[in-house]
Amino acid sequence: MGSSAFRMLYSIGFFITLISLSIVPQYAQGITRHYEFNIKMQNVTRLCHTKSMVTVNGKFPGPRIVAREGDRLVIKVTNHVASNISIHWHGIRQLRSGWADGPAYITQCPIQTGQSYVYDFTVVGQRGTLWWHGHISWLRSTLYGPLIILPKHNVPYPFEKPYKEVPVIFGGGPNVSDAYTINGLPGPLYNCSAKDTFKLKVKPGKTYLLRIINAALNDELFFSIANHTLTVVAVDAIYVKPFETDIILITPGQTTNVLLKTKPNFPGAAFLMTARPYVTGQGTFDNSSVAGILEYKFPSFHLKKHPLFKPTLPPLNDTSFATNFTKKLRSLASPQFPANVPKKVDKQLFFTVSLGTNPCDHKNQTCQGPNGTKFSASVNNISFALPTTALLQAHFFGQSNGVYNPNFPINPFHWFNYTGNPPNNTMVSNGTKVLVLPFNTSVELILQDTSILGGESHPLHLHGFNFFVVGQGFGNYDPQKDPKNFNLVDPIERNTVGVPSGGWVAIRFLADNPGVWFMHCHLEVHVSWGLKMAWLVLDGKLPNQKLLPPPEDLPKC
Ligand code: C2O
Repeated sequence: MGSSAFRMLYSIGFFITLISLSIVPQYAQGITRHYEFNIKMQNVTRLCHTKSMVTVNGKFPGPRIVAREGDRLVIKVTNHVASNISIHWHGIRQLRSGWADGPAYITQCPIQTGQSYVYDFTVVGQRGTLWWHGHISWLRSTLYGPLIILPKHNVPYPFEKPYKEVPVIFGGGPNVSDAYTINGLPGPLYNCSAKDTFKLKVKPGKTYLLRIINAALNDELFFSIANHTLTVVAVDAIYVKPFETDIILITPGQTTNVLLKTKPNFPGAAFLMTARPYVTGQGTFDNSSVAGILEYKFPSFHLKKHPLFKPTLPPLNDTSFATNFTKKLRSLASPQFPANVPKKVDKQLFFTVSLGTNPCDHKNQTCQGPNGTKFSASVNNISFALPTTALLQAHFFGQSNGVYNPNFPINPFHWFNYTGNPPNNTMVSNGTKVLVLPFNTSVELILQDTSILGGESHPLHLHGFNFFVVGQGFGNYDPQKDPKNFNLVDPIERNTVGVPSGGWVAIRFLADNPGVWFMHCHLEVHVSWGLKMAWLVLDGKLPNQKLLPPPEDLPKC
């Protein structure tokens, strides 16, 4: 090649580099990371029983995804099992990339047997611990794993740099007999399980970052490590004002990053870490405890038996612990990590979240609700019926007729004393309704528990957004008095919040992400009963405020 031609190519290349740097400055530092998820059956033995489970790449729990803030993730999911599959990247904002969000029949049709789908999205403005899980029927019981977002290169944590980072992921369910697990292991408190114990081996005088995730199907969990204090530093991939606690509470769907400082010297003891449920409902539940062991590595060879300390967890129904714990959670709200709480509200919404009943229509169906009914659950008394095609697709192609109604109510139809004596009629209505929001609407939403079939704490999860928890309380929300106590300065920002049993929470978010976004209780049993709804956020005017077109391999129903 002549030297002038070479120089010309060189300068064209340089020019292209310049252009691409100037077009995508916010992604310029990110890289693309590829993952392959092969969904396949795998035999797994726990508690002396072998079960065939649906797994990713034969692993239980599934593989860990690690990215940095700003990176693009390209994850090819191939379905080699008989059931339909979809995977949700829980907590990822999916800015304009709703096609990659994952909930079946909301943002995509499921991936059918023998088919693949590539989830392609960029992690923008988030750092911390999230997770991924199956998002169709109850398959997330075995299909889950951590999704870790490291800060950008050369951006430190706003806390002491940990010596090591360890994911701690809780599982459990669907059956009461399934046992809770830590990193897939039930631990020594169950029969025939001592060899399946998660061991955290540590050195004295170090700081460890535990990335705790609750992937259990139906249980909020208390967690503690004997004789050690934890410092909470982040939840749901948002930094918080650090605070110390011996015990944490974590609902399904939530993550909590804690620092664990080990004893300065070898303690001559080992320490159990245990988790067991926080229960407010009336249904049956598994009151057993999962345990792992915190073990200090021996400084030298001395093999004498060491005592094993056990932590004390709150009573199963300790709502006052739950309230005090959640009140300690505050956004870091620093100049570098501000809490951008919407200060003005465009749309004021009030949703009841509630249990209820449906008539038992099929003769062969076992209906376990009161008076021969079937259990149901609802938002504003509407039990959400999944469509047979994906909502996002129906919206994007203007084919919503017969798929969904855009008239989800902004209030319950009838006022009643939500947390007082429950009404006689507990029947819900059923439908596929979405609540439509113009781009950039700022929303205040009150989520009110009801006493229908007994009050219960509901961990509500919103896809596509983080929200700020500006207030919470017990009894009925009072629109005159309660807003005076809202925290608009440093409220916790997250994607899943526990609506207190017999109480309410107030959240605010800015609808700056066009698409269709699922919101539901993260207790799988309540999801299956219909405690779910969807938001439709319309495109904005500017080109960068519009939902991108679907990828070509988007699965068909
Ligand atoms: Cu973690 Cu819609 O779920």
